[in-house]
Amino acid sequence: MRTDRLAKMVRSAAESGILVPAFNVPYLPMVKPIVETLKTHGTYGMLEVARLELFKFEARSLAAVAEEYRKYADPSIVTLHLDHTPVIDEDNLVADWEGLIAEAISLGYDSVMIDGSRLPLAENIEAAAEVVRMAHAEGVVVEAELGAVMGHEAGPLPPYDELFESKKGFTDPDEAREFVQKTGVDWLSVSVGSVHGAISAASRDQTKVAARLDIEHIKKLRAATGVPLVLHGGSGIQQAYVLEAIHNGMAKINIGTDIRQPYERALAAGASVEDAQAAVAETITKIIREVYGLEGSAERLDRVNSEQ
Ligand code: 13P
Repeated sequence: MRTDRLAKMVRSAAESGILVPAFNVPYLPMVKPIVETLKTHGTYGMLEVARLELFKFEARSLAAVAEEYRKYADPSIVTLHLDHTPVIDEDNLVADWEGLIAEAISLGYDSVMIDGSRLPLAENIEAAAEVVRMAHAEGVVVEAELGAVMGHEAGPLPPYDELFESKKGFTDPDEAREFVQKTGVDWLSVSVGSVHGAISAASRDQTKVAARLDIEHIKKLRAATGVPLVLHGGSGIQQAYVLEAIHNGMAKINIGTDIRQPYERALAAGASVEDAQAAVAETITKIIREVYGLEGSAERLDRVNSEQ
């Protein structure tokens, strides 16, 4: 399988409490600082692009992102992931998910995410199982989502505390068990308290709420599924919650808003693209070093792998 190592690294991350950060690319020039900063710090991570970043931002195409990635890539440290490929998108429209997934696989993406989270359980299972068939045949790793990580939709969210206390949209552990058994997905994105940063033009520059995570719920999901869990909406979550989540099976964190906003702000203030790229690199360095302690994590994960 072409991505055996990737699957193993993320499994080891889930078992050893090391986080694998995945950084989103809404603008093509962000590829360089993401890949280079991960390499500089020996941090095992991913470069990822979601469908909405092609259409609502300026990532342009899966091919353009892959081409830019290959200019800087060291696949032993940074892999290429197709993020959110919705069956029903954030505007409630039906998307060509099979076309995008097939395109990513043929372009050499190492892993892909199918997002059937707006579908009833049986249909979400059907779509994810189909993606597993397509991707595993080519050795590509699959992430899917169950439960609702809100925030990408237009319009206001309910007040955050109300959302968290009510556990509205949280992934149900019994459904998660069934989902993983029936689909064979490698990683599961779960809803446990995080929300996505807003992306509508009117609100994409807003500061995100400092989200919390329900650690007991994460423990239940990990026990029910046995697969590495994925945390979406990774920007701005209170650090202590993420650090605890990492020790309970949360292996991959998706970070978009935290690096997009410094890039956009720099350009809006008249900075050059190089200076905006430097702002991205600076933010990633902080996240890697100060927030999650991920310096040298590629080597640490390799060591965990070799001990198994
Ligand atoms: P944030 O923009 O909130 O970091 O979320 C990113 C994400 O989850 C992409 O899949």
